[in-house]
Amino acid sequence: MADTKTPDAIALLKADHRKVEGLFEDFEKATGAAKKAQLVKQICTELTIHAMIEEEIFYPACKGKAEDDLLDEAYVEHDGAKVLIAELEGSGPDQAFYDAKVKVLSEEIEHHVKEEEKPGEGLFAQARKAGLDMDALGERMAARKAQLMEQFKDSLPPPETRSFSGHDLEEGQPVDEAESPKGPDEEIRPATLR
Ligand SMILES: [Fe+2]
Ligand SMILES: [Fe+2]
Repeated sequence: MADTKTPDAIALLKADHRKVEGLFEDFEKATGAAKKAQLVKQICTELTIHAMIEEEIFYPACKGKAEDDLLDEAYVEHDGAKVLIAELEGSGPDQAFYDAKVKVLSEEIEHHVKEEEKPGEGLFAQARKAGLDMDALGERMAARKAQLMEQFKDSLPPPETRSFSGHDLEEGQPVDEAESPKGPDEEIRPATLR
């Protein structure tokens, strides 16, 4: 008989990691704009929800049980990814840097996933060693994930950062235009990103 038990916390989070890795691989092979956009929407939704269940449920449970530095870095890595997710959400496959943003996001996630899954010393291993109740955490995360999947099925909210304080960034001269030298009198006017 099939095992219908909810996966424990680590199995659930690892399954999310594998799913997103697969989607990034599909993106590498994709050629059409529509397919790329569809994959990116899926990647952004998966990553947003995954980060939310970790930040709302798993990471707080790890507080005081795993190394503080590792946990702090995990929050900062999530926030870094959210900036790229917001960029991708606000652009399309025909825009400059789109593929590069997907690639850099995949590399950031690859690093982050390694830090979580590293055998013996990663966040998951430390949490397991500390005796966290992985079954109970898995159930809570599965329930929250189902709720968020439903909530975000049409669109994602703007990412909420936990470690970044939220900056207005100045957008400089686009790369293509910056390549042609400007005369000293030509003013370069930065735009404000909100
Ligand atoms: Fe994760
Ligand atoms: Fe994470």
